[in-house]
Amino acid sequence: MEQYIMKGGNPLVGDVTISGAKNAAVAILPAALLINGTCTINNLPNISDVKIYCEILENLGAKIHWNSTNELTIDTRNIDTTEAPIDLTSKFRASYYIIGAMLGRKGEIEVGMPGGCKLGARPIDQHIKGFEALGANVDIGQGKIIAKAKKLKGASIYMDITSVGATINAMLAAVLAEGTTTIDNAAKEPHVVDVANFLNSMGAKIRGAGTDVIRIKGVEKFGDCQYSIIPDQIEAGTFMTAAVATKGDIMIKNVIPKHLEAISAKLIEIGAEVVEFDDAVRVSATKRLESTNIKTLPYPGFPTDMQPQMAVTLALSNGTSVISESIFENRFRYVDELTKMGATIQVDGRTAIISGVEGFTGADVHAPDLRAGAALVIAGLSAKGFTTVSDIGYIYRGYEQFEQKLKQLGGEIQLVNNEKEVAKFKLKIG
Ligand code: EPZ
Repeated sequence: MEQYIMKGGNPLVGDVTISGAKNAAVAILPAALLINGTCTINNLPNISDVKIYCEILENLGAKIHWNSTNELTIDTRNIDTTEAPIDLTSKFRASYYIIGAMLGRKGEIEVGMPGGCKLGARPIDQHIKGFEALGANVDIGQGKIIAKAKKLKGASIYMDITSVGATINAMLAAVLAEGTTTIDNAAKEPHVVDVANFLNSMGAKIRGAGTDVIRIKGVEKFGDCQYSIIPDQIEAGTFMTAAVATKGDIMIKNVIPKHLEAISAKLIEIGAEVVEFDDAVRVSATKRLESTNIKTLPYPGFPTDMQPQMAVTLALSNGTSVISESIFENRFRYVDELTKMGATIQVDGRTAIISGVEGFTGADVHAPDLRAGAALVIAGLSAKGFTTVSDIGYIYRGYEQFEQKLKQLGGEIQLVNNEKEVAKFKLKIG
């Protein structure tokens, strides 16, 4: 029963360094399959999703050498199977990138249906639309996806929905296709741009990533490359809300402030102080903050992946706030847990109405998904008394050294494995 135990009340103060972006890493790793050579990837977050991805790639025949905790070299010269391990690929969402990459590399792939955080229905019709437009056949059945293409040919793809995954998958499948591909209504998230930059660094010809229209001129082959992944926008945002919810003062280093604008704007609006530097932001709050309304939207709107962390902050603010979740229909599953800590939140479909309370009290809660798990830890660190957060495997998926980084900022938090360790922590912290 691995869980975090924490005693809240300490303002989080000090410096924290943000790791590489998870959602870029889980696309860049499979993108390396397109090279038929070697590439070195730096600033990789050391998180469980990355480790599972490495296992999948090794199962396909890639050779991976970790040069340090956050850098690896991957050799994809001997990709000798087109069957990706079903048990691993069905563990998480981003395994769908194997399809785009392997269609480009081998013209064929069999993977498990992608799993991942249960945030709603999460269909993959736009991914399939992209593959089929490029000339692939896609069959789904018995928990598997089988995609095959004799020859991929450039095409015009209009995305009915702005989808990060479908945009990246279309890019992966199109970079080695014959001719030109256009992706209209493309997602503009920073990690979409990062994947395009990675592909370009190995010789792809992608223009327009970060805008609504991405144009890709197919090339015949790629060369070896070295690449450094961008900092994680959501990890940075999580620490920004941690600073505010605990009335602390954190210098968040290794960030791209531009990627954090939607989050910074909302925090400033409710009364927090946010100071931007070239590659850092300093976030602090000395008083109780005010309420606001938020609607999650694709980038550059307010990110759905920051919605639970922001809800924790607003649940402690003065007045009534409204959060509308427009991306995933099932992203309020943390509300019952937060209610156990004293939050007053009413959920009606995709809307949460939050009546701010003066403070939380510690409780035993469980993480329903990755970002909600991080949000509950922040709630615990700002609550009176002890809180335990279980099901923290979700948090490992996306946050490198979360507990250590929080401890470094003065948070009383520890990973415990049994009741005896819980009792020991309580005795030690008092
Ligand atoms: C990515 O998921 C991220 N995951 C998510 O991060 C993030 O919440 C999400 O983008 C939105 O920013 C990865 O990058 C691995 P979408 P993805 O396709 O690609 C609908 C986290 O916590 N849709 O942009 O799955 C879909 O249901 C995770 O780090 C279709 O209808 O999201 C949703 O409503 C959780 N058909 C909307 O589009 C499709 O074919 C946006 O989803 C694809 C998506």
